Amino acid sequence: MDMNDILLSGRHVTRDFGFGRNKVVAVNDIDFDFHEGEIISIVGESGSGKTTLAKMITGLLKETSGEIMYRGRPRDLKTQKKRKEYWKDIQAIFQDPFSSFNLFHRVEKLLIDCFTLKGIKLSREEQNQKLREAFSFVNLKYEELYNKYPFELSGGQMQRLMIARIFVLNPKVLIADEPTSMIDACSRSTILDMLLKLRTENNMTIIFITHDVGLAYYVSDTIYIMQKGEIVERGKAEDIVINPQHNYTRQLISDVPKIHTSWDVG
Ligand SMILES: Nc1ncnc2c1ncn2[C@@H]1O[C@H](COP(=O)(O)OP(=O)(O)O)[C@@H](O)[C@H]1O
Ligand SMILES: [Mg+2]
Repeated sequence: MDMNDILLSGRHVTRDFGFGRNKVVAVNDIDFDFHEGEIISIVGESGSGKTTLAKMITGLLKETSGEIMYRGRPRDLKTQKKRKEYWKDIQAIFQDPFSSFNLFHRVEKLLIDCFTLKGIKLSREEQNQKLREAFSFVNLKYEELYNKYPFELSGGQMQRLMIARIFVLNPKVLIADEPTSMIDACSRSTILDMLLKLRTENNMTIIFITHDVGLAYYVSDTIYIMQKGEIVERGKAEDIVINPQHNYTRQLISDVPKIHTSWDVG
């Protein structure tokens, strides 16, 4: 990772919902700088605005004010063509993997559709080769699964399939919004290790969203702490965990027993 190489940045990024007395400011005047190959965690409790921020970065939701820059330039997402171009570089996986797949398609087709999406033209053999590579990257057995439907897979297998899809699409930036919150601890650490591998092997920039500062510490270089729509603290993962400056950060850390006992955070 090169800390001079800013890939994505935001200035005064704000998003609200509703009007008048019902107005909610979900994201309030946030600044960020994400570098190429960096793993950033955004940590905060439920309702703090993490998903709203993720959706703005992916371009699924428009900011009310402020600006998000990609490669130093304001994004242009006005036309479908421009959005498609952007989505070649920026991909997201969400908490519920079943929500991002067409449940009526078999596993093989779900992945082959990624080639189409990316405009990659491959022969049948090349496709096969790439699929096997993707399956082996996420430790799934191709023969066992290629012909199955999503509902025949476990949550953990679906989450791995999501990562296989990311492996094929190979975006510059991956936004993972609480990707492990619905699966067991064992699958969870596998998924996290796969994210780390995507960074190491593909220099992917990963924005990992979680309410668990322990997971954030495990995977990330940089942590942003988010509370009620604002970034209250940001810094290197070790600094945030070992020497938190903000009360809210201390509170999040004290909710993680393992970290609390292995460092003096008082
Ligand atoms: N589409 C929406 N319409 C109205 N309010 C919303 C919408 N999406 C999110 N919010 C509100 O914005 C706030 C932040 O939500 P969200 O970004 O989902 O937080 P998190 O992902 O951290 O749990 C919450 O108060 C939520 O109710
Ligand atoms: Mg959320």
